[in-house]
Amino acid sequence: MTIQSRKFDTLIIGAGGGGLRAALQLARADAKVAVVSKVFPTRSHTVAAQGGVNAALANVSPDNWHFHMFDTVKGSDYLGDQDAIEYMCRAAPKVVYELEHFGVPFSRRDDGNIYQRAFGGQSQDYGGDQASRTCAAADRTGHAILHSLYQQNIRARTHFFDEYFALDLIKDEDGYILGALTLDIESGEPLLIEAKTTLIATGGAGQLFRTCTNALINTGDGMAMALRAGVPLQDMEFFQFHPTGIAGKGMLITEGVRGEGGYLVNADGERFMERYAPRAKDLASRDIVSRAISVEIREGRGCGPNKDFVYLKVDHIGADVIKKRLPGIRDLAMTFAHVDPVDSPIPVYPTAHYTMGGIPTNRSGQVVVPEMEGPEEPVPGLYAAGECACVSVHGANRLGGNSLLDILVFGRAAANHIIGHLQEHRYHRQMDKTAIEKALARLKRWEKTGSGESVPELRTELRKVMEEHCGVFREQAVLSTGLEKVKLLKERLQGARLKDQSKIFNTARIEALELENLIDIGIATVASALARTESRGAHSRVDYTERDDASWLKHSLYFHDGRLDYKPVRLKPVTVDPFPLKPRVY
Ligand code: FUM
Repeated sequence: MTIQSRKFDTLIIGAGGGGLRAALQLARADAKVAVVSKVFPTRSHTVAAQGGVNAALANVSPDNWHFHMFDTVKGSDYLGDQDAIEYMCRAAPKVVYELEHFGVPFSRRDDGNIYQRAFGGQSQDYGGDQASRTCAAADRTGHAILHSLYQQNIRARTHFFDEYFALDLIKDEDGYILGALTLDIESGEPLLIEAKTTLIATGGAGQLFRTCTNALINTGDGMAMALRAGVPLQDMEFFQFHPTGIAGKGMLITEGVRGEGGYLVNADGERFMERYAPRAKDLASRDIVSRAISVEIREGRGCGPNKDFVYLKVDHIGADVIKKRLPGIRDLAMTFAHVDPVDSPIPVYPTAHYTMGGIPTNRSGQVVVPEMEGPEEPVPGLYAAGECACVSVHGANRLGGNSLLDILVFGRAAANHIIGHLQEHRYHRQMDKTAIEKALARLKRWEKTGSGESVPELRTELRKVMEEHCGVFREQAVLSTGLEKVKLLKERLQGARLKDQSKIFNTARIEALELENLIDIGIATVASALARTESRGAHSRVDYTERDDASWLKHSLYFHDGRLDYKPVRLKPVTVDPFPLKPRVY
């Protein structure tokens, strides 16, 4: 089979904020950049980010990057690498001002400065009063950022391959990544993209769970690709459940609602967060608020006929503020919960939101793997940034507003490193035919409709299993059964059939390929959760209720063959003293 191929300096897989920020930096440095995206770029999931991006601009409350760093380290339940967190928090004001210059229409204060709202886990003076650090474009910040970055990329002549699905990385025998084999979704033809450097920026895997805030496209494709290429996935047990998804449906109701003064109440009308986080209350970090809601419901204080949600009350902040600062939330609440928050509370329940683990990288976005003996080594030619990567700035629990920051800071950092690499590596390496054949085999598997169970049914089952076996609260026996079920789904998928029997649609093949990816990520998630016998951040074990720093202050690494390994947390920042481990209270 003859395969069409194209050559670029850099291939970026994924057109969300991380991919586009990196592409822009590269294109402006005259690199020849290809961005491959399975959807039209401005439909990437960054578009759904609502509340904002954190940066210590001090426009609303006294602030500096070191307070931000403290909050992030504490929020991570001390699993975040302090050098990476330091780098991110220091860079935050710069990347936000860059966005302003790219044309992002931030909301403004009366004095003309960027508007900043309060978000969970933010404090002044290392744990003092609430800070307001989240720079917002109303409640459509991701939309504003993604569109601005896309327009800037068009101007900079970035080359886009819209609606191309990345099948697999191409890796030669020396371990170099030479690009990726992709599939043109419209024609069904494969296209080889050869590149001196490849950046994975494919986002998270929220589609693992039945109720989630994530778009249908969030199927962990890049993480699964890296796993197949021999890269372990780091800290996969840490999956964030956002406290306020629309009950029963999962759509995101931004933390910005609580930042603007909204609060949660149970069936007794009680503002229950006061019991769980006396100081921060509704603006405690997400893991704490999600657990509190789950406990309220478990103990019978849920609202509604089935007592299965709590209310997010916001009417008291006034119609003007809601319409000005939270117009998107009002739309969502009216459309999906059939309530107008101007006069009625919104029914909410925790919803799967963010993959905190991912492809291990260093601060320059290079993908790094542990060597048998000695320090970890970069995988030559391979980079990752954003939700698919684990640098690790979020540790066991990400703070709201730090994900848009992560994609911008590390998308940019990866691009800067790539620019240096390209100066030293001027030529493409020889293509590896065997690696192309291997990648093609993935596609060939789905050339026939097949028989047996249908792919969409298996996807639905996977999401149910993950929700039931690896949710907010976890336990040995439940996780064990969950792991067996997901492994069995992997076997069942081998004999499955595509959605349509009369004709093979490329979209049906994509669904099957995505499910292969999701299942691998599901196994990595449950296996890592089963092994970690402590509670830390979002990983809450009812059978091991305490954080156990003596045994578990380490990152997990899950390999494709099912092996688990661990590596130390980097506790030393570069320019400041470390923040010592403490019990985490809000
Ligand atoms: O609540 C939100 O607006 C979500 C923000 C985030 O996940 O960073």
